[in-house]
Amino acid sequence: YSLKSRNTFGFQVSARYFVEVTSVEQLQEALGFARKQKLDIVPLGGGSNLVLSGDVEALVIAVNLRERSVLERSDEAVMVRAGAGENWHELVRWTLAEQAYGLENLSLIPGHVGAAPIQNIGAYGVELKDSFESLEAVEIHSGELRRFFLKECQFGYRDSVFKHALRDQFIITSVNFRLSPGLQPKLGYGQLQQELAQRCGHRSPTGMEISEAVADVRMQKLPDPNVLGNAGSFFKNPVVNADVVKRLRAEFPDLVAFPFDEQWKLAAGWLIDKAGLRGYREGCVGTYQYQALVLVNHGGAEPDELLHLAGVIQQKVKAVFGVALEMEPRVY
Ligand code: EPU
Repeated sequence: YSLKSRNTFGFQVSARYFVEVTSVEQLQEALGFARKQKLDIVPLGGGSNLVLSGDVEALVIAVNLRERSVLERSDEAVMVRAGAGENWHELVRWTLAEQAYGLENLSLIPGHVGAAPIQNIGAYGVELKDSFESLEAVEIHSGELRRFFLKECQFGYRDSVFKHALRDQFIITSVNFRLSPGLQPKLGYGQLQQELAQRCGHRSPTGMEISEAVADVRMQKLPDPNVLGNAGSFFKNPVVNADVVKRLRAEFPDLVAFPFDEQWKLAAGWLIDKAGLRGYREGCVGTYQYQALVLVNHGGAEPDELLHLAGVIQQKVKAVFGVALEMEPRVY
């Protein structure tokens, strides 16, 4: 079964076994089949945060559970439930139409709802965890449906328990959000503020205007996977201590670093750019000319070429700045 149209790098790879499920029962059935046949499982959402490094010998399960509903509305909160297979951006737009706010800064993030908690998606000063109530997931080895609340998910920067202790153990089937009936704009990100000032002047923006401004900012910097294969930011922004920032600032006064908890977050895109690798190209792969943190498939690339390029970037950044870059997408 070809996975070319199901991974946003557009790699020409295939799955030995493939099934698309539209209900929890079908998912449980597929897991039962895999258990009997002793097959590994690869869950697939929007395919926008993974690198398929070759043909997949496992059972690929496309999780197409669709549901969007308002569970409860009060003066304090609007509780919303979304199936794992819903397109993330469409969910965001639907919540705004329902006058439920909190996800607007996360507009236009590619992918499906079910993958969003795994890496705690975030953009423009907001993370999924800020609106998260709970999720349901099926345990792969038992087929049992279980609910996880906020604390249990151990959300961090592009991180959750599903990348560590519970890695490869659960398939997320739905997510519940606690949204707000009133808009509380989060406009700390400079470019977003500018974009909105142009649209609204001094009037406060609506949720939809914020969503549209976010989409515009993203489109200026991030390539559309339908045009140029990519998986968004390819590395996490490295978190380092104050000593590292001090050392780097001495040599690079224009270093981009933001306070983060007790530490500092460096802009990986800036590091790659400053190392001379923005717009760099090796064969069919390269870094995006407007955002060096995004690796792109210029067409016809093999996964190995991309992983090689990732290694070249990691080595160069290490050599120039002494900082390690950690890959963000999952490699299968
Ligand atoms: N920069 C450069 N050159 C570049 C790229 C960036 O100098 O080639 C500088 C920018 O000028 C800016 C700084 O680096 O001063 C940060 O860049 P940007 O605002 O584009 O954000 P980012 O840190 O590269 C992160 C997220 C994005 C998210 C944006 C906006 C990660 C790994 N990435 O990118 O998330 O959209 O912030 O909040 O945290 C994703 O995860 O796939 C993703 C796109």
